[in-house]
Formats: sequence, structure tokens, C-alpha cells
Amino acid sequence: MKRFFLFTLISLICTGISMQAQNFNLVPVPAKMKTNPGQFTINESTKIVLTANTPEMQNAVAVFNGLLRQAAGYRLPIAAAPVAANAIVCKLNPAISNAEGYKLSVQKNLIQLEAQTPQGIFYGMQTLRQLLPYQIERPFLSNVAWTIPCVEIEDAPRFVHRGLMLDVCRHFMPKEFVLKFIDMLAYHKMNTFHWHLTEDQGWRIEIKKYPKLTEVGSVRYRTLEGRYSSPASRKWDNTPYGGFYTQNDIKDVIAYAQKRFITIIPEIEMPGHAVAALTAYPEFSCTGGPFEVEGLWGVFNDIYCPKDETFAFLENVLTEVAELFPSKYIHIGGDEAPKTRWHRCAHCQALMKKEGLKDEHELQSYFIKRIEKFVASKGKRIIGWDEILEGGLAPDATVMSWRGEQGGIDAAKQNHDVIMSPNTYVYLDYYQSDPKKEPLGIGGYLPLWKVYSYNPMPAALTPEEAKHILGVQGNLWTEYMPNSNQVEYMAFPRGAAVAETGWSPQEKKNYPDFKERMIQQFKRYDGIGWNYSKAILTEEE
Ligand code: ACM
Ligand code: ZN
Repeated sequence: MKRFFLFTLISLICTGISMQAQNFNLVPVPAKMKTNPGQFTINESTKIVLTANTPEMQNAVAVFNGLLRQAAGYRLPIAAAPVAANAIVCKLNPAISNAEGYKLSVQKNLIQLEAQTPQGIFYGMQTLRQLLPYQIERPFLSNVAWTIPCVEIEDAPRFVHRGLMLDVCRHFMPKEFVLKFIDMLAYHKMNTFHWHLTEDQGWRIEIKKYPKLTEVGSVRYRTLEGRYSSPASRKWDNTPYGGFYTQNDIKDVIAYAQKRFITIIPEIEMPGHAVAALTAYPEFSCTGGPFEVEGLWGVFNDIYCPKDETFAFLENVLTEVAELFPSKYIHIGGDEAPKTRWHRCAHCQALMKKEGLKDEHELQSYFIKRIEKFVASKGKRIIGWDEILEGGLAPDATVMSWRGEQGGIDAAKQNHDVIMSPNTYVYLDYYQSDPKKEPLGIGGYLPLWKVYSYNPMPAALTPEEAKHILGVQGNLWTEYMPNSNQVEYMAFPRGAAVAETGWSPQEKKNYPDFKERMIQQFKRYDGIGWNYSKAILTEEE
């Protein structure tokens, strides 16, 4: 009897595990899913029905249809009239409460997809994409039956902000790669691309009013070779290195992202990480320069001097940025700004006295508040790294917590919105397996399981404060990612762990199950042509 009980228990557990491992390998795992026997098969006469045939609804199904065109050799025609069989019926339904959520019912003869918004329809289509055989990600192959298992899914994201940040300054990433990066975000139901566009080592966005920002500021004359080391032992690659996006490039990227329901948040760093801009316009520094676009990584003392001319410059830059990007947020940096120059600058000290600021942290707070006011005048809001807490938060600022979670907790307790991107969990530039087996990296150690283990909701918050946690973001700083191939390798599968952390209910998260699903997902990444780390196939955990 006892043995029978044990046997039943074990088989129940095993069935449970294999059911879970199945989940049809969806990443992120849906909030609710029930599988039924049978399957729907797409063929050339299958139709997509859009009950509202708007451009946004067409976008919601276009990626799916484009893949089918590539893999199966045909697109599904879009119909407006009701079709009772052999169709994917996409319907807007205001009763679905989450603006990004969707309800998907796959039956043998009909697929019904409902959402409050076209964005929800898009996510439902991404789920259908992942339910198809993995060959959907590959160029044309005959003899694949395009089947979708019968399922009932009710799905919606846990957080409104789910994203990755890409630093295109330490190493420039071509526009074509940025588009591919956006595809990967969309594949994983992420909705935000944080584009880090300015740095000490390069200014990467065309600003019409200040052409020298790119003429001068986008090119460095040397780059540190290999590991960061003491000045005497540094080696340099003396090849000039540069690159930037024209405003037309940026418009193309924004349009591409919009079709995939991804918001791009541009980051224009201030007051620190500004050496490239100051090389072009040294008059906005405390000392007057001259400077050189940095070829070394790190934190540098020369930052913007809070003069009226500097504010006029930054406001002109932000005006162009605000006009280009539809995002309601502009990220203004705020991290790692040493106060050395301000401490010794007659202008800075006089300004502190005049404004009654007790130290340079309060001067930084003055700086950010003044910028915030300007950004607000453009109808936008600022995000800053957690250093903007120092000296007092600007009234409407959203804080991106990177030095662990404390900045995020403090900001939420002050009733400010927060995006969690702590270096203790989601710095995707850190090593993902034994550094001895990895290409040179910046340091740290964040294997897949550790990234996956992150819960962006700090236990220290009350339910009211918790509402300020908007979501989670992984960061890709590219000092040690010389090309897009290396970015891909560092970004995934850990980016998928960030995506699931941002989307799926905490109680649905299960690392062994996720790992199994990821191993299956690799076939899809191969089809997409995405480089990724295979560390989980060999590492002991
Ligand atoms: C940062 O990593 N300096 C935001
Ligand atoms: Zn100064």
C-alpha cells in the first residue's frame, strides 16, 4: 500500500514536471494555460480575420505572417468578414482588463485571439509563433506541417516595463543589428528598448544644431586593448573607432520598433559620462579642456559645468531628442558623475552659494531638477540612474535602480516610480559561466539561474509603494563586447530570463522548467540566426 502510494506520488510528480516542461516551451511562460487534445493546421487557405482592420491591427499580425511567408512560402490573406473555420480570428475586446493581455483559444478548426489592444493581439501572435514547429524561424523548408496544439491561454504581463538596455557607445552597433535586437525583444514579449546613445567614448546620435557632436564626438583615436590595467601596462589599439546614427536612421529604427509594439527610451547622459560631447564643445566643461574622446573605460572627472550656456546646449539637444522619439520618457543618465571639477570650479561654487546648495550632491540635484523642468515643458518625463536620489530627487523623476535594489526601494518609499535593473541580478555584461571559459568580460558572475531567480518586487515595500515598481530591465554595457555577435552571446538566454521575470506571475516561475524550455528554444534561436550562450548545456549548477 505504502509502495503503491509512493509510486502514485512519484508518477504524479513526474507527470507534473513533464506537463510543465512541456508548456510547449513557451518563453515567457503564460499566466494560465490549459492544453487540449488535437491541433489546428495552417494551410494556404487559412485566413487571418481582423475585426478591426486598422494599421495597428495589421502590424499586430505582420511579423507572424512575414515568418510564415519565409518558412512556408505563403502569407495568410487578411479578411474582415467573419469566417467560421480555418481562420485565426483576431478581435479587440474591451473586457480584457490588461492593456497588454490576450486570450487565445486554439481549436481544431479555428483560432480565436482576443485582446483589449492591438499590442495584446501582437503578443498573442507571438505565442502562436512559438507554438508552431521551430522551423517557422527558418527559411523555406518543405514537408513541415504547420500545426498549433489546441490550447486555451489567458495571459497578461506582471509588469508594464520589460526591457533591455543596449550601450552603443563603448562599441557602436550598426542599425541593422539594432533592428535584430528589437526583433529579439519582441520575440520575448518585451516592450522597451533603452538605447544608451552618449558616453565618454562616443556620441552616437546626430544633433542638427551641434554637428561637432558627431563630427568630433563620435570618433575616438584609440581604444584600450584587453583587460583594464594600470596605466603603465595598458595596451592600445590605435585604429580610430567611430560610428553614429543619423536622425533618419533613428526614425527608421523607431518605425520598426513601433510595428513591434516596442517603445524606445533614448538616453542622453548628464552631467557625467560626457567626455565625447566636451571634446566637441569644451566650453561646456568647468576647465575649458581640451579633451579627447576617451579610449579607456571607466568614470571620468570632466563633466558638464552647470552654466547657463551648458543648459542652453543640453536643452537644444533634448529638444531634438524629444521631437524624434515618441516615448514619454527621456533617460538623462545621472550616474557616476564625480564632483571633483565642480568642487574646484569658481562658477560651480558661486552657483551653489547663490542657490543655497550645501554640497555638490545638491548641485547635481539642482542640475537634474532644472533639466526635468525643461523635459516636462516638452510633455515628457525623465528617468535617471539611482544616483539622482543623492541631494534630493527631482519631483517627477523615475529611478532606474542599478547599484543593487536599495535605490529602487528608497525611491518607491518616496512615491517615485522605479525600474529595477540591479547589477546584482540583471547586468548582462557580467560573466555567465566560469570566467576561465568565457571571452574577456568586465567581471561579476551572473549565470542564467541567478538572473532567473530575481524577483523585481522588493519585500520591503508596502502594497501602495509596490505600485511604483514598473518593471525590470537587463543592461548590456559593451566595453567588452566589441561586436554584435558578442552582444547576442551575452544577451541570451539571460535576456529571456529577464523577459519571463517581467512577464510571468512569480508563482509560475520555476528554474528547472525554464531551463528545459530554453534548451528547446535554442532551436528557434538557431533558426533566427541569433548567437547565444550554450553554458547551460554543460555547466553544473
Ligand atoms: C551604470 O551601470 N553606470 C548605470
Ligand atoms: Zn563648473
